Amino acid sequence: MPNVIIVGAQWGDEGKGKVVDIYTEYADLVVRYQGGNNAGHTIVVNESKFVLHLIPSGVLHKGKRCVIGNGVVIDPKALLEEIDMLKGQGFLKDSSQLLISDRAHVIMPWHCKIDVARENLRGKGKIGTTGRGIGPCYEDKYARVGIRIADLVNEKVFVERLKGNLEDKNRYLVDFLGDSACDYNEILEEYSKYAKRIAPFVADTSLLVNDAVSEGKSALFEGAQGSMLDIDHGTYPFVTSSNTIAGGACSGIGVGPTCIDEVIGITKAYTTRVGSGPFPTELDCEIGEGLRQKGGEFGATTGRTRRCGWFDAVVVRDAVRRNGLTGMALTKLDVLTGMDKIKVCIAYEIDGKRVDTLPASLHEVEKIVPVYEELDGWEEALEEIRSFDALPENAKRYVKRLEELVGVESVLVSVGQKRRETIIVKNPFD
Ligand code: GDP
Ligand code: IMO
Ligand code: MG
Repeated sequence: MPNVIIVGAQWGDEGKGKVVDIYTEYADLVVRYQGGNNAGHTIVVNESKFVLHLIPSGVLHKGKRCVIGNGVVIDPKALLEEIDMLKGQGFLKDSSQLLISDRAHVIMPWHCKIDVARENLRGKGKIGTTGRGIGPCYEDKYARVGIRIADLVNEKVFVERLKGNLEDKNRYLVDFLGDSACDYNEILEEYSKYAKRIAPFVADTSLLVNDAVSEGKSALFEGAQGSMLDIDHGTYPFVTSSNTIAGGACSGIGVGPTCIDEVIGITKAYTTRVGSGPFPTELDCEIGEGLRQKGGEFGATTGRTRRCGWFDAVVVRDAVRRNGLTGMALTKLDVLTGMDKIKVCIAYEIDGKRVDTLPASLHEVEKIVPVYEELDGWEEALEEIRSFDALPENAKRYVKRLEELVGVESVLVSVGQKRRETIIVKNPFD
């Protein structure tokens, strides 16, 4: 049975939550493999809206196992709030539906404080992080001083790790960042409570996922953020602190690349970005504002305004290559309804020279002048359309042109927020 990776092909918020929820029907397990509660994945079913930050977007389907892999950084408070929210709404009744890796790293209070204090110090040059402690937690992981879930649930080890970290962190917080110190007793008391509640969910999730795959079950690997926010391949330093591209799924779960069958890139029919950093096709004008209002482009995690712009085929072509995409799920096509002309960026010009890929240097990226192609728009509402052929001619032409420019075909076209407002072109699980 196929195993499928879902990744964001732009700067995040492409609609991964919606697509994962739809594909869960065909999978046995849904697995998050990187990022943390910086993610905000929205699912709309009938009139109910759910925003998930840590728990895989398959959780609304009874009986589908949801796994948080070792590559995720976990804020225990945020996780428990999400569990309570879901249980309160009648989901996750069977707690064994959720499994959490013993090797995932824990976001501690100092991570959030450092994240926020550093951003304040950066002033104009700030990254615009979500302030959830993601970067500082991954820093500690790679510095080999992090606290893992296995440590959290072992009281003796946790006390040692907490003491071992706190002196250093407090010195950094107080002397360098001018912030207040974290209190040992307070953290110990708070995190001991979290540990008790989290312990029943903890497992060696690599073993579990590999066993399931060997038995012929299908896994859906749910990426967070987007390819342009990847720590290695994104618009560094305006990125997040994990490998968001498909390659991150293998290390973030502990599965081999040989078990992956399909990689689907979730792609918005235009482009958005939250936070600072380069955005060549940004529309800092009425058209951008129109997309923001019509597309509801406000962050699912922080509520911040999302910057909006035209579709950038250079960015998505880059994502096709770096992720090895086998298909694209094109979302929010309905938002473009009513536009007379729609522009698509097909290449860049830097210092008068045509460029077809994104340069690594931010200095070069800042000089980009997008080369646009203009396509005719359409007037018809798309929400009730369920087959590709039934789309207005110009909408079909738009989708086909995007496919041609980025080099993969659409397997799904999303025409509204709701689960049912979807056109399935080809099912990657077939
Ligand atoms: P994610 O982080 O990739 O899961 O995306 P977000 O949930 O942060 O943002 C996507 C937003 O677009 C959410 O509010 C979705 O409900 C919404 N959305 C997803 N697909 C569509 C679509 O096809 N049309 C419209 N209008 N909204 C959509
Ligand atoms: P989903 O999974 C959009 C952005 C932040 C900031 C940068 C670094 O919902 O698509 P961080 O807190 O990760 O250190 O912030 O990354 N960012 C996202 N933007 N969608 C996300 O997740 C994001 N997660 C982080 O806005 O620019
Ligand atoms: Mg989001």
